[in-house]
Amino acid sequence: MLFKDSITSRMNPKIRSQLEEYSEAIEIFSHIRDPKVLKALGPSGVRGLVLKRGKQGVPTKIQASHKAHFDWSYPHDNSEMAELYRRAKKGQWDGDDLAWSTSVDPLNPEIPILPQEFIDFGVLEAEGIKLSQTEKREFIYAVVTWMLSQFLHGEQGALFASAQVTEAVQFFDGKFYGATQVMDEARHVEVFQRYLETKLNKLYSVNDNLFVIIDSLMADSRWDMKFLGMQIMVEGLALGAFGTLYQLTKEPLLKQLLGNVIQDEARHVHYGVVALREHIVTELSEAERHEREDWAFEVSLLMRNRFMAYEVYEEWFEGLISREKWRELILGAPGMEQFRTVMFSRLVPNLREIGLMSERIIPAYRQVGLMRYFDGKAADELTGDGMLDELDRKSEFAMAG
Ligand SMILES: [Fe+2]
Ligand SMILES: [Fe+2]
Repeated sequence: MLFKDSITSRMNPKIRSQLEEYSEAIEIFSHIRDPKVLKALGPSGVRGLVLKRGKQGVPTKIQASHKAHFDWSYPHDNSEMAELYRRAKKGQWDGDDLAWSTSVDPLNPEIPILPQEFIDFGVLEAEGIKLSQTEKREFIYAVVTWMLSQFLHGEQGALFASAQVTEAVQFFDGKFYGATQVMDEARHVEVFQRYLETKLNKLYSVNDNLFVIIDSLMADSRWDMKFLGMQIMVEGLALGAFGTLYQLTKEPLLKQLLGNVIQDEARHVHYGVVALREHIVTELSEAERHEREDWAFEVSLLMRNRFMAYEVYEEWFEGLISREKWRELILGAPGMEQFRTVMFSRLVPNLREIGLMSERIIPAYRQVGLMRYFDGKAADELTGDGMLDELDRKSEFAMAG
């Protein structure tokens, strides 16, 4: 046993877990090579990972510093955005119309919100932790509640980011479209919050890594960084997660809710691709483009490696297994594998389409195994219906299938 290990193994489990947590935070930020990316993400990292601003139980104030872009000539400047605006107006739905009278029992094995195979319980058993059937169901209930809580927190970020981008974007047609997205995101906050409050009866606090991403988007004064972060990265993550849960859940209200939300999100990502494609290729210098390319790569890694449901770990297994073992359990979970596949098959083609997958960065993506998603369809070629069809078709092969 290493000296360090022999000391930490004698520590109080809470302190040990905290030390492990800090060293993870240091590890995340020490491998970032681009100093500009470090500057953009670093302060948010301190606020999220070290100060844990999202977990203080009080409202968080984040200083925004973008410029509102006014245009007194009201140009019709982007026909694709104008078309998205028309579609968005027609696609509005009312959260009250979902089947809220459905009775949901998260522990009912007949109608699982998430199948047990989502997690490989063998990893825990190898550590000497054997859960009963009831405990397994309770654990899966915790995992799905954690996921939905993070969706809700992400939606709050999307609500504010879309409002900011509506002010800051230079396309007038984009402002009209943006207003519909603000409404969409408000509805998403409404329905996820209602589902958690009335059906699952629990809310987990915001995950520190999600906080870092949201914080850095809110504080960044450049609209295209907000946009890249929210419309491409976080929405891509959301589509991956919503899509996976949509495929796996047997609970009809949740499936209906997710199906509706996915339709809206498909428009949001489409808008992100249209706005950024033009901006990145025509308006940015090479250095600015490189910075965004590096930033997107770092955030991709953050999203792939860091959403580890530690909030559930602390509740269930802190002191019983190490954070490292827990990471192994979550990273290797069959459901998480499916989630990463859905997420990156959306995200990577969108990054390609907006010009952030140049020859310069491709080797980095190849090294982490993400190039296999390169040739997929980008959001401007996919509609919400097309996306749901694809999810429905593929769910035949999904693990719960
Ligand atoms: Fe949303
Ligand atoms: Fe969205």
